[in-house]
Amino acid sequence: MTSVYGGCSQDDDIALHEAYGKIVRISPNTLSISDPAEINRIHGLGTKFIKSKFYSLAEDYDGEGVVPDPFILTDRRLHSRMKRSAANAYSLNILIKLEPCIASVTDRLVEKLKGYAKEETTSVEVASLMQAYAMDAVFALTFGKDFNHMDGGDHLQLFRTAKLGSDYMAIFGQIAWIHPYLLGNPWIAKWFFGDQGILKMMELCYSEIVAGQDRTSDEGPMTFLQRLVLNQRQNLSSLTDRELMTHAFNNIAAGSDTTATALRSVIYNTLRHPEVHEKLKAELRSTLSYPVDFATTNKLPYLSAVIKESIRVHPSVGMLLARVVPEGGAEICGHYIASGVEVGVNPWVVHRDAAVYAEPHRFYPDRWLTSVSSEEDLTLMNRSFIPFGHGAHTLEAMIFEAEASVEDQKGM
Ligand code: HEM
Repeated sequence: MTSVYGGCSQDDDIALHEAYGKIVRISPNTLSISDPAEINRIHGLGTKFIKSKFYSLAEDYDGEGVVPDPFILTDRRLHSRMKRSAANAYSLNILIKLEPCIASVTDRLVEKLKGYAKEETTSVEVASLMQAYAMDAVFALTFGKDFNHMDGGDHLQLFRTAKLGSDYMAIFGQIAWIHPYLLGNPWIAKWFFGDQGILKMMELCYSEIVAGQDRTSDEGPMTFLQRLVLNQRQNLSSLTDRELMTHAFNNIAAGSDTTATALRSVIYNTLRHPEVHEKLKAELRSTLSYPVDFATTNKLPYLSAVIKESIRVHPSVGMLLARVVPEGGAEICGHYIASGVEVGVNPWVVHRDAAVYAEPHRFYPDRWLTSVSSEEDLTLMNRSFIPFGHGAHTLEAMIFEAEASVEDQKGM
């Protein structure tokens, strides 16, 4: 807990694993595991290891009680139903259709950067700018509108709320039993957070739900939320209004800060490594013109390598994603671990495994290129690369569900 409070528990965890090996006890009932071979057993799609009490600190309440939320749910059937009913909204094809929603936000960012360049501003506070850009972009794809945080700053206090919430979860999540006596009490939570930002989001949710109510098909541009409303109209039992709201909230809560952190790491690491900066500039200038789109940028090998390496050395999530060992116990790294013990793999630790990534502390995008690493090495590197988590609780699993539900519909 003190290590988390100090703000660099990821560095402490890396040092502990370097000193003691693949299993380290980091709290009385929690083991940190650093072994790529164990990722699937603990976090994989069919695993019996469920999310730990740590996640209960992210619970939200409404008039009916605790809101069902895929990020927290340990009830597999409900988790799977909720993910399935929203899955098509997360499929790659659909996300690509949402590019125009984000384009106007990106235009605003580019204009801002051009403005700084014209003024010959000597320094730009990129961290806050990326936080605002990511928040506006995720709002735009979810609701079709945003609150221009890039110009207005934290005018809805959403950044303040997110920071308080994630600091609280990280620190007090280490002693999760205390939560019902702190922010697990809805009255204390209301007093602590206030509700200005949340109310604005709810208003937006409701207006999108109303806007989506007359749609009978998915023709024409649709926001993420309008697509969910259409899913609901087509199969009334598939999604409740509370669940619609949760999915929208989750995009903002899970998608904005994580994306901002990733963007910051790309910018920071590229600027700190002039040889990488030059190589990246050469690739971008010879292939791209503004505006850019996913289909084109996704084909650029060096850009992809820089992005991957940036989130390898600085994953957005800095702590292990704890799961509970199921009944009967389990064998992990050759040791018997009793049922009820919490275990997990911290992306920061496994991304620094020298047996997988040569010179693991070095920022070296070229390691991801087929011209530099063998296919066998790349397979191991990719298997150990978990910045987005692993298994059922990831966006990738949503896409998997989307494809599965399309297949189901074909078979019907
Ligand atoms: C670089 C960007 C991102 C990173 C590094 C990231 C990271 C993660 C991680 C580590 C998890 C797994 C958490 C766990 O196992 O407990 C997760 C889950 C999730 N992410 Fe992301 N994420 C990113 C972007 C996004 C975006 C843009 C969205 C939405 C628009 C999003 C929505 C979600 C949701 C809804 C879940 C929960 C899924 C579930 O528990 O079933 N994420 N993300």
